[in-house]
Amino acid sequence: MFSELKSHHAGIAGRRIADSCDGARARAFSLSLGEMLFDYSKTGIDTAARDMLIGLLDAAGVAAKRDAMFAGRPINETEGRAVLHTALRNLDGGPVMVDGVDVIPGVRATLARMEDFADQVRSGTFAGQGGAITDVVNIGIGGSDLGPAMAVRALAPYHDGPRCHFVSNVDPADVAAVLRACDPATTLVIVASKTFTTIETMTNARTAKAWMGQAVTDPAAQFAALSTARDKTAAFGIDPERVFGFEDWVGGRYSMWGPIGLSLMIAIGPDAFRAFLRGAQAMDDHFRAAAWHENMPAMLALVGLWHNQVCGHATRAVLPYDNNLARLPAYLQQLEMESNGKGVSMDGADLPCDSGPVVWGEPGTNGQHAFYQLIHQGTRIVPCEFLIAARGHEDALHHQHQLLIANCLAQSEALMRGRSFDEARAIMAAKGLTGAELDRQARHRVFPGNRPSVTLAYPQLTPYVLGQIIALYEHRVFVEGAVLGINSYDQWGVELGKELATALQPVIEGARDAADKDGSTAQLVGYLRKNGA
Ligand code: F6P
Repeated sequence: MFSELKSHHAGIAGRRIADSCDGARARAFSLSLGEMLFDYSKTGIDTAARDMLIGLLDAAGVAAKRDAMFAGRPINETEGRAVLHTALRNLDGGPVMVDGVDVIPGVRATLARMEDFADQVRSGTFAGQGGAITDVVNIGIGGSDLGPAMAVRALAPYHDGPRCHFVSNVDPADVAAVLRACDPATTLVIVASKTFTTIETMTNARTAKAWMGQAVTDPAAQFAALSTARDKTAAFGIDPERVFGFEDWVGGRYSMWGPIGLSLMIAIGPDAFRAFLRGAQAMDDHFRAAAWHENMPAMLALVGLWHNQVCGHATRAVLPYDNNLARLPAYLQQLEMESNGKGVSMDGADLPCDSGPVVWGEPGTNGQHAFYQLIHQGTRIVPCEFLIAARGHEDALHHQHQLLIANCLAQSEALMRGRSFDEARAIMAAKGLTGAELDRQARHRVFPGNRPSVTLAYPQLTPYVLGQIIALYEHRVFVEGAVLGINSYDQWGVELGKELATALQPVIEGARDAADKDGSTAQLVGYLRKNGA
């Protein structure tokens, strides 16, 4: 599938990106959506490579797959489900049919119920048993945590509702620290779980209920649930009035646009939440309508395929120069790696190429003082994805934001340009070094350069822009998965560990011995039990 591109890559491997990166290339290898700019000119992709990459989209039938997704067809074939997170932000589009039924009226009715509840919580009309709600605790994990946690942090400047906390880990340290900071009489607990069976979430939810029960007479009255499993939320004792349901055509890691986004809506208010949805909807419309070479999700995906499957760079660093996006890399780890980390294609055959890359990152400038050493001078190439806003939200500190921008642009420039041995040598000679020591010291100061990066720039991180950014990444995952021929919407790879953990729990508790375990696992059980487990 990638052989022609690999040959082309080998043929141009000697070229330096910097040599061609003039204004014309910058314009030709960038694209805009509204005020957002995506610049991929600091990559090795030339016109021929781009044409071949776009050819992959046609060969894989990506347009038809995209249209099937938006039309509600069951493209998640291993689970027999439609993939319709886009319906959750379809604020003014037409009907979307699943099994002959238009799902949009239900989506809008649930959104209206969420808005009503969020308004009640924010205004104090819905109160705890000790007064107006001061704290909201979202208990969920994976897609029921990472999206809202990332977005609540990203949109902190718009936060005018009660404080929001997130509990995800089954490690008691997580729930204990959050509950310690809250007053049970004025806390709303939201149990967010698509299935309402996830062991971490249900364990933490029971812990929170017991904590609240020590302080108020009716703990369940301060619980809400976000789930597809209405029977299970009822069994937990949560009033259907405060259950916000969704359907199985919303994947966990794609679910923050609907009920799973309730904590975000309470934090920033229904109007700002709608702006978030509108931004995503604008990206949806663009993805459906724009020609491939002008299509931001498609081109972002093709850059990803070029770096991973063609060039063989196994990781991708996401580097937001936007501290409020600190949780974006963690969010993208689930979105991208749970979606496209698969070893077989849709038909069950072995994947004939590498699956999706390892995604990681940290906000700049912090990363510069940590792992950028490896990115600049290590022996492996790490394609970098920078995000930067023209403006922050701290008007009085705009000069600091300008310094942030300078750092962001300097990093992509340094990665591309590098520093030659002669340049390094001249610098060290000017410091007075000579002879063998001059050469030795200069060698350490060489930057190979020619290291690819892309930059996504936007005016300011508003709710609308965040919606655009997240929908952009979602569709990028879709396009990469469609080209690779995998199902981006299941996650069988998380199951085995869950099963083994369930089987191990009685062994850890001492109710069963570890005789049927391998030597290493049995040894670790023995050690941990001996030391207090
Ligand atoms: O870890 C697997 C997974 O199913 C994720 O895909 C999902 O986001 C997470 O667990 C949480 O699931 P639930 O929302 O059903 O609790």
